[in-house]
Amino acid sequence: MSISGHNPPVGIIGGTGLTTLSGLQIQTERPVDTPWGQPSSALVEGLLGDQAVVFLSRHGNPHRIPPHQVNYRANLQALHDAGVRTVVGVNAVGGIHLEMGPAHIVIPDQIIDYTWGRASTFFEGELDETTHIDFTWPYTETARQLLIAAARDQNLAFSDFGVYGATQGPRLETAAEVVRLERDGCDLVGMTGMPEAALAAELGMNYVCLALVVNHAAGKSDHIITMAEIEAAIDQGMSGIKRILEVSMSDLGALTPQFS
Ligand code: HPA
Repeated sequence: MSISGHNPPVGIIGGTGLTTLSGLQIQTERPVDTPWGQPSSALVEGLLGDQAVVFLSRHGNPHRIPPHQVNYRANLQALHDAGVRTVVGVNAVGGIHLEMGPAHIVIPDQIIDYTWGRASTFFEGELDETTHIDFTWPYTETARQLLIAAARDQNLAFSDFGVYGATQGPRLETAAEVVRLERDGCDLVGMTGMPEAALAAELGMNYVCLALVVNHAAGKSDHIITMAEIEAAIDQGMSGIKRILEVSMSDLGALTPQFS
């Protein structure tokens, strides 16, 4: 157990279905700016249990920024500037793997990036040297293990593995595209996992993904994907996501950053 009063704040990036974090005792809500522009929302700073947290709504509050237009660089920079060294990205996803149906929770361990045209690195412009970060393991394993322990502790239905296929959106996939994703080894598909994870790594922050399956990926059920299906899965599954966040928060805060 950590002494969370001394921990740096943990960043939580909420996605679809998590534009605000109930349970967060809000202390301040402040709009910020960065050299990369404005983040998607004001930073909401407060306490979850006794752990300092900075919450940011990836699609804005209210939800208005589509996945391909999120300013991922500004979001990560704003969290870093606020002292955050560990980030939990909460993502709504489509399930490809058989065990990943609606309302199932996944703590993935790998990514395949199919996005394009997004500002996806801090290393551009006039640089002293070219930088290639190592990205073999895109999610911080110690952080993943803390989320896994919390999900287990709460008796939730979850998977402790998964390859996250990050697609461009904002449209959903065709059935054939999902067959290709599956052939590539993807277990789940979402639109916001990248470049978020890589940007966190470039800043030397710990990063972990907590995904909620909100629909069977296209062609993986006998019906087309509807907003009603997605909303029902969010209603059913988001309480589990919040419980995992609450239980794991102070241990996440105690993690050492990759670089300071
Ligand atoms: N595909 C891509 N992104 C998603 C999906 C999906 O099926 N569901 C939620 N986000």
